Amino acid sequence: MAIRPLRYLGDPVLREPARAVKRFDDELRELVDDLFQTMIYEEGAGLAAPQIGVALRVLVVDVRREEGDEARVALVNPRVVEHSTRSDKEPEGCLSIPGVTEVVRRPAGVTVEGFTPEGKPVTLEAEGLFARALQHEIDHLDGVLFIDHLSPLKRRMLLKKYRKLSEEPG
Ligand code: NI
Repeated sequence: MAIRPLRYLGDPVLREPARAVKRFDDELRELVDDLFQTMIYEEGAGLAAPQIGVALRVLVVDVRREEGDEARVALVNPRVVEHSTRSDKEPEGCLSIPGVTEVVRRPAGVTVEGFTPEGKPVTLEAEGLFARALQHEIDHLDGVLFIDHLSPLKRRMLLKKYRKLSEEPG
């Protein structure tokens, strides 16, 4: 088990569609452990494998503090199979784009299908922050970042701020 270095905006692995997992083996379970450890270390609500440079469809989310005990999951090959027509607007950030947040509109509820790291099929119904975190992390598996959901003007302003932060010493 290890904390792995994060990949940041501009790294091509964040823009590649990740590959489906075919083998549910010890290597996969080690990846999941590393994702949890790295997420905890970085104080994130979720983390997707491409964010540590692994182009596989694996993610972890932990929003138990906000959403209760069910809201900690590791999902393999997840997909959104249904979403509510109602949407929410909440501020969002990303460990791969540190220091900036912006309000993102997303469906308020989703049904997600996938597999546990042991290969067992699971279906999750999520709302609130849990639904938002799952959608954000699943986006990562398709090379999509939260900034892609912003208007061109909002995105430009956010990237300008991000670049300025990145240039500041320390
Ligand atoms: Ni992210």
